[in-house]
This record gives sequence, C-alpha cells and structure tokens, in this order.
Amino acid sequence: MTGWLIAVEGTDGSGKSTQARLLAQHLGAVYTREPGGTPLGERLRDMVLDPAGDHPVDRAEALMIAAARAQHVAEVVRPALAEGRHVVTDRYLESSIAYQGHGRRLGPDDVAAVSAFATEGLAADLVVLIDVDGPVAANRRSGHLDRIELAGDEFHARVVAAYRAMATAEPDRWVVVDGTGTVEEVAERVAAGVADRLGPA
Ligand code: TYD
Repeated sequence: MTGWLIAVEGTDGSGKSTQARLLAQHLGAVYTREPGGTPLGERLRDMVLDPAGDHPVDRAEALMIAAARAQHVAEVVRPALAEGRHVVTDRYLESSIAYQGHGRRLGPDDVAAVSAFATEGLAADLVVLIDVDGPVAANRRSGHLDRIELAGDEFHARVVAAYRAMATAEPDRWVVVDGTGTVEEVAERVAAGVADRLGPA
C-alpha cells in the first residue's frame, strides 16, 4: 500500500510550517518542504528567495521552483510513498499555482503544466489550507523577509484568493482550516480535518 501525500498550504505568515511539522508528527509521516527537501532543492531555494542575490525573472523563478520539485519528488516523495510512508510536505504544486500562477500572473494553467512535467503527474492526495485573512498574515510576517515575502500586499492578496478559489473548486481534495487561534487549536482542527478525509492513520 502506498502512503498518502498531504500538502500543507497557506500564505506567508499563516503558521503553515508549524502546522505541517505537527501534522507529520501526529501521523508518524515523513516531513519535508518546498522549495527544498533535497540538497539541490535547498540550493535552488536559497537562490530563489535571497533578496540580496541575483533576482530571477518570474519565469525563471517558476522553473527553478519546478526543478527543485522534480528533484524532491524523485528523491524523497516517491520513495517514501512507495515504502508505505505518509508524506507531509510544507508546500507543493498548489503553491506554484497560487504564487507564480496568480501572484506573478504567469497563468495557472501554464504553471500547472510545468509542475506536472516536474512531478510526472504526482498530485497530493489531500491539501490542507491554513486559512488566514491577508492582514492577519501580514502582521505575522516579520524579521528577515525573503524575496517573495517582500512582494507586497496586493501580490499576497492574490495568493490568498487563489488558494480559496482552488479549495472551493475541489472540495473533496482540500481541507480548509481556520488558521486563527493558538497553535494547539489550529493543530487539532488540522488533525480532525485530515482524519475525516483519509481515516485514522
Ligand atoms: P515558506 O514556505 O513560507 O518558508 P518560511 O516559513 O521559511 O518563510 O517560504 C517559501 C517561499 O517560497 C514562500 O514565500 C512561497 C514561495 N513559493 C512559491 O512562490 N512557489 C512555490 O511553488 C513554492 C513551493 C514556494
């Protein structure tokens, strides 16, 4: 039996990374993240996100993230699933649709096609959206902001709207969790939402 691939998604400042780790612990799943998850992917991540580095143009950004995803799927995700492990990934191709497709306005269909090439069509079984309103997320974004976090409120508003539209369009594959409240409260909602869809781990 292959494991489940669960993506945790949300805008910058949604608290999604903390929730992805807690969900992986709760399920005894492999935890991983994008862009990254492999040494090559982490180098690409640094190149994409470093505000002081060479700035990739939007299409280069999309392709570098897709390249990191191809490596991640081939080296980490598919082998773990094949062993029957569940995998929780902090971001997956829905991030590309939201950020590059809508945030950067490259178009969701082209971005989805690039990602499908990168992953050989591996889709998440379930996508958990940690949903917070733009202003809440903006207040939580602080400290050293990366190049994409610096993209501005309108960019991030497009990202939030894109996530909500994708969740509405595919309600069976998405679980939308209210991201307000304490870490524990949100974690309980996430665990309940996942158990509801996929059954007990
Ligand atoms: P994020 O996952 O929020 O990490 P941290 O919690 O350390 O800030 O940061 C990754 C950034 O990469 C985030 O701004 C979204 C961006 N990103 C894309 O634009 N497209 C993608 O496909 C992925 C996976 C990430």
